[in-house]
Amino acid sequence: MKNYKLDLERYAVLARQATAEGCVLLENEGQALPLREGERVAVFGRMAFHYYKSGLGSGGLVNTRYVVGILDALKDCKEIRLDEKLMGIYEDWIRENPFDEGQGWGRVPWCQKEMEVTDEMLGCARDNDVSLVIIGRTAGEDQDNNAGPGSYCLTETEEDMIRRVCQVSKRTVVVLNVGNIIDMSWVKKYHPQAVLYAWQGGQEGGNGVADVLTGKVCACGKLTDTIAQSIEDYPSTENFGNPFKNYYKEDIYVGYRYFETFAKDKVLYPFGYGLSYTSFGIKAEILKNSEEELTVAAEVVNTGAVKGKEVVQVYAKVPQGKLGNPARRLIGFAKTGELKPGEKEEVVIVIPKYDLASYDDSGVTGHKSCYVLEEGTYEIFVGSDVRSAESAGCYEEKFRVVEKLQEACAPVEKFSRMKAVLMPDGSYRAVTEEVPVRTVDPQERRKQNLPETLAYTGDKGYKLVDVLDGKVSMENFVAQIREEDLIAMFRGEGMCSPKVTPGTAAAFGGVTESMKALGIPVGCCADGPSGIRMDCGTKAFSLPNGTALGCTFNTELVGDLYEMTGKELRLNKIDSLLGPGMNIHRNPLNGRNFEYISEDPLLTGRICAAQVKAMAKSGIGSTIKHFCGNNQEVGRSTSDSVMSERCLREIYLKGFEMAVREGGARSVMTTYGSVNGLWTAGSYDLCTTILRKEWGFEGIVMTDWWAKSNYEGHQAAVQVKAPMVAAQNDIYMVVSDAKANPEKDDVEEMLHAGKLTLGELQRNGANILGFLLKSPSILLLTDRICAEELEVMNTKEADDVDAGDLIAITSDPETQEMVVDGSLLHPAKGNTDILAVTNDYMGEFTVKFVLRSELGELAQLPISVFMDNIHKMTVSVQGTNGKWVEESRPFDMSFGHNHYIKLYYGADNLEIKEILFIPNR
Ligand code: BGC
Repeated sequence: MKNYKLDLERYAVLARQATAEGCVLLENEGQALPLREGERVAVFGRMAFHYYKSGLGSGGLVNTRYVVGILDALKDCKEIRLDEKLMGIYEDWIRENPFDEGQGWGRVPWCQKEMEVTDEMLGCARDNDVSLVIIGRTAGEDQDNNAGPGSYCLTETEEDMIRRVCQVSKRTVVVLNVGNIIDMSWVKKYHPQAVLYAWQGGQEGGNGVADVLTGKVCACGKLTDTIAQSIEDYPSTENFGNPFKNYYKEDIYVGYRYFETFAKDKVLYPFGYGLSYTSFGIKAEILKNSEEELTVAAEVVNTGAVKGKEVVQVYAKVPQGKLGNPARRLIGFAKTGELKPGEKEEVVIVIPKYDLASYDDSGVTGHKSCYVLEEGTYEIFVGSDVRSAESAGCYEEKFRVVEKLQEACAPVEKFSRMKAVLMPDGSYRAVTEEVPVRTVDPQERRKQNLPETLAYTGDKGYKLVDVLDGKVSMENFVAQIREEDLIAMFRGEGMCSPKVTPGTAAAFGGVTESMKALGIPVGCCADGPSGIRMDCGTKAFSLPNGTALGCTFNTELVGDLYEMTGKELRLNKIDSLLGPGMNIHRNPLNGRNFEYISEDPLLTGRICAAQVKAMAKSGIGSTIKHFCGNNQEVGRSTSDSVMSERCLREIYLKGFEMAVREGGARSVMTTYGSVNGLWTAGSYDLCTTILRKEWGFEGIVMTDWWAKSNYEGHQAAVQVKAPMVAAQNDIYMVVSDAKANPEKDDVEEMLHAGKLTLGELQRNGANILGFLLKSPSILLLTDRICAEELEVMNTKEADDVDAGDLIAITSDPETQEMVVDGSLLHPAKGNTDILAVTNDYMGEFTVKFVLRSELGELAQLPISVFMDNIHKMTVSVQGTNGKWVEESRPFDMSFGHNHYIKLYYGADNLEIKEILFIPNR
């Protein structure tokens, strides 16, 4: 019998290994690391006591069973000894200077106040063999990094700590618990012997990092981004952060594509770089060169003294031709197994020629809108980072078209973009050229390609499962669905819809009674990407962040890990994870870089394809996001990303293309913002021409939560949703009630005005139904999950929350008041009640507790109130000598209609008669 249980131990082992393999060792002078047996270690930095398991926002809100920080893990390493005195000094100081949580969502400090290092503490540094300095940073959704101290740069206190610790320690090791790269100019100033990027590793993060520090895992992570001397050196910095227009003037010259071509001397640590505790020799050659593919073979030998893994990276230098090209581009990579000293491994990497092609968006090659290979010499480099990779041979190519496409999503306004020109001395000069502008009207294209409208048949008695069983075609099934249901199907419900797994982001599909009657299940999706987010408090596994996973360069390991996540999703009755996140690290200041993988599209695409494939093993359709150009958080729903079609295709779409073509992704989330003047959710060429027609995507497209769309030339607005339907962005996420059209969207109006067709709604409906047919929800609805698995699905862990535990509260239709009957509550020390609240009115409320206690006035009786897992208040009442009293507090519910309000009781002897939520109107 198959074992359906989630093996949490194996999950933890894989996550730990992924964090360890993601750690990137940038410096290791005199083999400062790994720590040796018996060594005494002084740990500096308050962040040793508070590990950032992930970044902020929807991608970080996983309720974990536990989190192991770096210090926790080191305490468990019996082979080393930590300086207790120094730990005590920090603990005392932290008691006086507690962790500052900030104000939640988008308003959390990027860093925490650091303790000034005293002479006494420096004494500890002197007395021990090694000083470990831990620096932490966070950022995330709705909160970019900033370029100043405390975010991208170190604060004065942090620099001072590193400087002084380095001065007196025998060896100093700096560990960076950060979401993405930070300024590294301090390394040259203070010369710590070792520097390790440890990223944010999820609940097992500390264990993974400790494995690398102690040498249980040989350091093997590689940078997924170029680290330049200064933030100003990144060509995108000039245009980053404008809330209205963001010109992608650097074009395809993002990350190493820019630095290796134009500004090698600005690089501190190149893309792909990372040290090991051992050393490797790599000998590579071109094994085969056919019209379709290039095969590169590399022999990797461990030439050092300990076992370890190496990443073989293959880069190409393609001819400059007429288009201009970066000096190097990553075209393939592979990670070896763990090689013993002296052991060899032969790695063979097959590279489709398509990955070497460039997109001609101007017609300069005579082949506009084609991927072409220009005539000339193609040189292949192989090595362990972009800079040091050595030539493995060359071959000649005649000009040829690799794929003929159609112009799509080109910019409508002129601007200048960067272009490379090869100089006689072999160097490159950056010149500018005017970007080619759009010549095709996407609306006209849509009109030429409208789907057929199926004649409405009314209910013929077919259920959705009949399509699965081949008893009826999808067309005949869809023909039965009423127009109003098709419109309702366009509207996903959430957040925290009571129709699906509690605490998740959305319910979609069969959200009305009449659709349910047709046997359409309600699909469920949940954030993502670094673990499952269930806001009611259900525990889930918190995973290493995207950057950490990218730095492993290990698609197999990432796949194994995400296979567990797929299983976990299925057991939680969730059909799709809202992830992986796969936007490009265009600039280090983007707050959501922690969710994303790299500045390189091929690496991004390959890692995400592995995640997608792995989750699909459990029937889970991961939602790749944010499609596309979500490269800053500031002004994310107002800022227009203005970029050339070439740059869009080669850089910002390439990863998505790979996740669809190689990974088989079945779900896509568009962005809040616009690309070239069209909000992505309403962009026909993006969601239909490119995604579906070119890449063969057959799944669903959903908006980001409460995203807008626009009619070209106009601003986006909440009501404007017909362009989404027309674009084939199948689902708008999210409304409180799909049938009621609470946002007064214009879909029905535009349909009746002839601006939308019923056929378009039917086509989108079929996309959604097709998705559900491949998802666990149809199996659950039709009792097709086997008894053994169902038993596991329905088994509650002690700390799980399911629908039966929730106390459902809805508002009075007239007064909008919500009343909680005290007899449903369990007010005793350590108990928790969770109210699943559906409020019609959004705004300020007064929450009034009517309660009593037999105890006297000196008794303290705290009730902590959490909304959607965020602590809102602790109402501390005194004993009332048995008298009923009222306690009122302000309570904000101006955002969203569904909430989980958790009450945690800190004391016994409390009786609650009722709790009222009264709107302040
Ligand atoms: C984020 C998405 C997320 C969604 C649902 C949005 O704020 O941008 O990435 O999946 O919320 O939580």
